[in-house]
Amino acid sequence: MDGIESSAHPGPHIDMIEQSLSEVAEREEDITAQVYESYFRRCPGSAELMVGTDGLMRGHMMQEVLVFIMAEDLRSQRAYLRFETKTHQDYGVQLHMYENLLLLAVRDTVKEILGAHWSEDYELAWRGRLDTLLQEISDAWPED
Ligand code: HEM
Repeated sequence: MDGIESSAHPGPHIDMIEQSLSEVAEREEDITAQVYESYFRRCPGSAELMVGTDGLMRGHMMQEVLVFIMAEDLRSQRAYLRFETKTHQDYGVQLHMYENLLLLAVRDTVKEILGAHWSEDYELAWRGRLDTLLQEISDAWPED
């Protein structure tokens, strides 16, 4: 795959994602705990892998996840994303765990917090960005 979001405009997606996250921020100080709780409930394999990690590390990882989700230009983050993907494979992370983290934990937590304020525009924006991100991660995944 070449050209991240080359044919789509990342702008409107990012505006919508930022808007949804600032709506979340008005309601919750920090979604980190809620995201991990949802993640581990829905992905026991990830819970097992992360059992030895502390709050600091989890918080840092969450920050980096949000950086990728909100990056204006994902292309400029590609090398870093690929580096993290390879490093994570060495930790024992499996590809499906990214989908669980990004879709089932982060997006669904945002959706749950916003309740009736979650909109079709948010749905499309999150879906567009996460599809791109997951495609990038899958492209970076080293062959067994
Ligand atoms: C785009 C998605 C992800 C990003 C950007 C990301 C980022 C990071 C970062 C920056 C750290 C280091 C934190 C620190 O040292 O302070 C980290 C650690 C870690 N991440 Fe992720 N992560 C992602 C997805 C995942 C997934 C899906 C798993 C699955 C369980 C995972 C498992 C881990 C583990 C186990 C560690 C600790 C490794 C160690 O013991 O040093 N990560 N992650």
